[in-house]
Amino acid sequence: MTATRRAVAVLISGRGSNLRALIEAAKAPDYPARIALVVSNRADAEGLRLARDHGIETAVIPSKGKERAAFDAEVDALLRAKGIELVCLAGFMRILTPEFVAGWTGRMINIHPSLLPAFKGVNVHEQAIEAGVRISGCTVHFVIPELDDGPIILQAAVPVPPGATPAQLADLVLEQEHRIYPQALRWLAEDRLQIDGRAVRIRGAAPASGALISPAL
Ligand code: GAR
Repeated sequence: MTATRRAVAVLISGRGSNLRALIEAAKAPDYPARIALVVSNRADAEGLRLARDHGIETAVIPSKGKERAAFDAEVDALLRAKGIELVCLAGFMRILTPEFVAGWTGRMINIHPSLLPAFKGVNVHEQAIEAGVRISGCTVHFVIPELDDGPIILQAAVPVPPGATPAQLADLVLEQEHRIYPQALRWLAEDRLQIDGRAVRIRGAAPASGALISPAL
């Protein structure tokens, strides 16, 4: 499997715990993808150090004070120069231009800490608690130009404990993010995902966990 593993770039802006989950998953000999490059728009992103510690190539492309199109063009050129096949957004807090997104259609995925289409944008856990939902969760989806939107690949449900703070809910959801992101990337790298309108079909037998993981329900 090693020789044919798909080259993945992970785009980050901060901590990089989802990046860590992907790096760990990719250590398995049968994992169909390898993390070839980590790109951050912030030089102080903690995830950069994590990548370097694992011998993964990193790049910082500062976004501050730069035109959106110019930033995206720089990222795009780098990804192509490095032979990247698939892109994972992992806490990458930038809105991408439709032009950039179009160049990676069906090959770029994102993780978001809610059960989309609920609670897009930022302060997601505050939004969920304020709305009084009893179940939140996380979503891995294909990236389309609209923010936190696109065909859904995998979701995990997380019950909201009574009285939970946003930080407590974030921790519970993050645990599930680390489970579903590596699984979604595995399917993508195995070419098993077929986009059918708004839906995603998973070719072949799905693993026992299925496309919805509900750990505590
Ligand atoms: C994660 O919770 C991820 O779902 C979220 O940012 C966090 C990054 O954490 N992404 C978004 O909100 C995207 N809209 P990490 O840097 O530890 O992976």
